[in-house]
Amino acid sequence: MNRILAFESSCDDTSVAIIGSDYEVICNLTSTQSEHADFGGVLPELASRLHLQNILHLTEAALRQSGLGPDDISALAVSINPGLIGSLIVGLAFAKSLAWSWRKPLITVNHMLSHIFANLIEHPSIRPPFLALVVSGGHTELVHFSSYTDFAVVGKTLDDAAGETFDKTAKLLGLGYPGGPALDKAAQSGDPAFHSFPRALKRRDDLNFSYSGLKTAVLEYLARQDQEFVARHLNDLAASIQQAIIDPLIDKTLRYARLQGLGSVLLAGGVAANSALRQQLDARAADLGIRVSIPSLQLCVDNAAMVGAAAIPKLQAGQFAPLDVNAFSAKGTKSL
Ligand code: KG4
Ligand code: ZN
Repeated sequence: MNRILAFESSCDDTSVAIIGSDYEVICNLTSTQSEHADFGGVLPELASRLHLQNILHLTEAALRQSGLGPDDISALAVSINPGLIGSLIVGLAFAKSLAWSWRKPLITVNHMLSHIFANLIEHPSIRPPFLALVVSGGHTELVHFSSYTDFAVVGKTLDDAAGETFDKTAKLLGLGYPGGPALDKAAQSGDPAFHSFPRALKRRDDLNFSYSGLKTAVLEYLARQDQEFVARHLNDLAASIQQAIIDPLIDKTLRYARLQGLGSVLLAGGVAANSALRQQLDARAADLGIRVSIPSLQLCVDNAAMVGAAAIPKLQAGQFAPLDVNAFSAKGTKSL
């Protein structure tokens, strides 16, 4: 049995995992950098320094907890894009040094694809073709997989990502940072039909997304209301904004899946934790006979088990990286 030791350090979570080539997670340890909360966002320089502090301790703990050593590991996997470049470099340099000293192959992984592969951990029987809806703080993409390694991005955001829109509108409502989970919570006791915020790019053949108009509409709407009204209807406003973010995601995903005859949809990325998106995508897909796979909450957030999962097809195909490979911060779902 092959085992992969995987690292994730693309943003503000340092994570180390060991996963079997059958997708069994042996351990998945994450250190979340709460230090950024005081600044209202992630401070890149601080993130790199904290990764540097955490990664060795997490690796030692992962090996200790699992009772495994270098002889039990077949390959090292690490995310190299997209992300904060300084943060990515810490994980990559660490993985490279272990690959060199342990004489093991190195596998590099795209962070967004690893979010998609988080689904395989709990549902290893998922087989392509499938459609993935990747929704995170920086990305909103519809990706059509014809095999585990052949895929095409068929739709993406033209401006803000869905997660970014959750964060920015939550801030406008005074819900703090990160806004996504707070807006989700407030929306649970609100009325999504309280106010109709705009849905962009509604043409049936348009698979792209756009959220900058929604952000402006929320800003202008709130400027017209008095504070007491906003406070009284906070949950209704949160629910109405949330619905305007998730409607286009669900509509376009299911429309494309139906058009292409795809019976399987995978939801992925931090926004896959959103309770309304999970419920409504699942219910509306079920009406159409489409199966939806959604990772459990702890696998929606950044973690190294998903990096290991995305490395499994590469390990099987012998697709290894040279030790002079570099990290890069370009956005998008680049090749796996
Ligand atoms: O994938 P992720 O952990 O980091 C990136 O790779 O960007 O996604 C983080 C994003 C943030 O924008 C956060 O607000 C959003 O996911 N998010 C949520 C929820 N939980 C996290 N958005 C809506 N509802 C949630 N429950
Ligand atoms: Zn992520």
